Amino acid sequence: MRVLFVSSEVHPLAKTGGLADVSEALPKALRAHDIDVRLLMPAYPQAKDRLMTQGKPIALKNVLGFDDVALVPGLLPGSELPIWLIDCPRLYDRPGRLYCDPDGKEWHDNALRYALLSHVAARVARAQAPLSWRPDIVHANDWHTGIVPALLSADAASRPAVVFTIHNMAYQGNFPASCLDFIGLSPHLYHPEGVEFHHRVSFLKAGVRYADRITTVSPTYAAEILDPEFGHGLEGVARLRQGDLIGILNGADYSLWDPVNDRHLIERYDRHDISGKKACKAALLKELMLPATSNAPLIAFNSRLAEQKMADVVLEVVPAIVAAGGQFALLGEGERRFETAFVELARRYPDSVSARIGYDEPAAHRLLAGADILLAPARFEPCGLTQLYAMRYGTAPIVRRTGGLADTVVDATPEALHAGVATGLSFRDVSAAALGEAVRRAIELFAQPLLWRRLQVAGMHADFSWECSARRYLDLYRSLRPEARLRRRVTRDHTPDDDDSYGGRVVNSR
Ligand code: ADP
Ligand code: GLC
Repeated sequence: MRVLFVSSEVHPLAKTGGLADVSEALPKALRAHDIDVRLLMPAYPQAKDRLMTQGKPIALKNVLGFDDVALVPGLLPGSELPIWLIDCPRLYDRPGRLYCDPDGKEWHDNALRYALLSHVAARVARAQAPLSWRPDIVHANDWHTGIVPALLSADAASRPAVVFTIHNMAYQGNFPASCLDFIGLSPHLYHPEGVEFHHRVSFLKAGVRYADRITTVSPTYAAEILDPEFGHGLEGVARLRQGDLIGILNGADYSLWDPVNDRHLIERYDRHDISGKKACKAALLKELMLPATSNAPLIAFNSRLAEQKMADVVLEVVPAIVAAGGQFALLGEGERRFETAFVELARRYPDSVSARIGYDEPAAHRLLAGADILLAPARFEPCGLTQLYAMRYGTAPIVRRTGGLADTVVDATPEALHAGVATGLSFRDVSAAALGEAVRRAIELFAQPLLWRRLQVAGMHADFSWECSARRYLDLYRSLRPEARLRRRVTRDHTPDDDDSYGGRVVNSR
C-alpha cells in the first residue's frame, strides 16, 4: 500500500508544535508495517538546510500560475522515510516562523501558500506529476491541506482515497471569498454545503466535507467536536460526517522521547533506576539560574503561549506555587501579552521563577527530565503530547479533563494511587481555583516520597507507543481500498444500516 502523507510541518525539518511530531512518528510507525509512506511538505529554508537530498529536483509546470515549483526528493533525517519538499521560493523561502512574519503577523498570502501545497498533493495523487509513484491513499493533515479532498472530489472513481486528520479544530484557515480567484478551487464548491463558512472560504471545512474519512487525534476529542463548545462553528459539518469520523489517539515516539536514550540529558535513567533524574534536575536548576533546594518541587510549563493552553490561568497560579515553596520554569513562546507577563513574574520572583521565551527543542527535553511536575492544562486539547512525554520522564502531568488529556492521564485519587494506576493529576473547571487546587494536591503528594514514587513509576510504565495507533490507521486505510469502497457502496445501497466497521464509531483508547 502506498500512502502520500501531506503536512505543513514535519520534525526535524520544521516544527511549531505536535503536528510536526506526529507527521514524523506516524509515517515511521507505518513504514515499520511495510507501508510505502512518502511525505510531502513545503521547502521552508530550515527544511531545505536539514534535508538529506536524494537526486535532482523535479520541475512542476504551472502550479497555480507558478513556473518555478519543484519537488526536492530526500530522506527525513534519522530515518528511511522518503520526503518531497515543495520548492517555491516566492512562497516558502522567507525569514520568520512558518506561518507568521518576524513580527508575529500571519503571512498575508497563507491561502496561496497552502493552496499550492494542496495542489501539488492533488497532482501527485492523480499521477500528474513526473513521478513513477502514485499513492493508493492520500493522508492530509490539518487546515493547510484541507482543500486536497475538495480538489480530488471531482474524480471519485479514479482518484486515491483521502483521509483527513483534524489536529486542531480551532485553526481553520478561513479566508475572504475573493481568494477563490487564485487558489484554484472551483467556484461551484462555494456554498454552505461545500467550502463556504460565514461568507469565507474555509480550508478546514473543505477537508471535513470532502474527505472519504476524517480522523482526529483522540477518542474524546472526536466526540467533543460534535458540540458547539469544541466545534468552533464547524460542529454541524462534523455531525454531518459523524459516520465517517473516528478518533485515534496519538502516540509518543520513544526513540526520541525516553530518558533511557535521550541524548539531550546529562544522565540517562529509567523506571528501574530513576536516580539520573536528580542529576538532570540539578543541571536544569543551574541552567535556569534557580537555587538548588533539596525539597522544593520544580513545576514546568512547556507550551505554546495561547488561550488554548490556559496560559492566562497558569499566570494567575504562579504566585501560589511560589507561596507554597515551589519553583516554576516556563519554556514557551506565543502571544506577546503572555510572554511579557511570564517575564515579569520571573523578575518579581528571581529565586523561584524562570521564564525562557523562545523555541528550543533540546531545552524542552531537559525541562521535562529535570522537572518534577508538568503543567499541561487546556481549554481544549485534541490530544496533547507533552503530557505523554512527561509521564515517560517521571514528571507528573497536571491536566484538565478534556480531549486527549482526559484519555491519557489517570488522576491521583486515593483509590488510583493505591491501585498503582495513577499517572498524574487532573481537574475539571477552567479556573485558577481548580488548577491551583490540583497544584496543591500535587505538592502535597510530592512531599510523600513513597506515594510520589508510585505515581512516577506508573507514569513511566504507561505505554503510548505508536504501534497500536498505527495499526488503527492501517485498518482505516485498508477499509478504503477500491474493493472495500465498492463493497461499502453496495452495502449502503442495499441496507439502511451501514455495516462499515468504522461508520460512526469512535475508536476507544488503547
Ligand atoms: P500543540 O501541538 O497544541 O502545541 P502538543 O502537546 O501536541 O501541543 O505538542 C507540543 C510540542 O511542541 C511538543 O513536542 C513540545 O515539546 C513542543 N514545544 C512547545 N513549545 C515549545 C518550546 N517553546 N520549545 C520547544 N518545544 C516546544
Ligand atoms: C495539535 C493539537 C494537539 C495535538 C497535536 C498533534 O497541535 O493542539 O493537541 O497533540 O496537534 O496531533
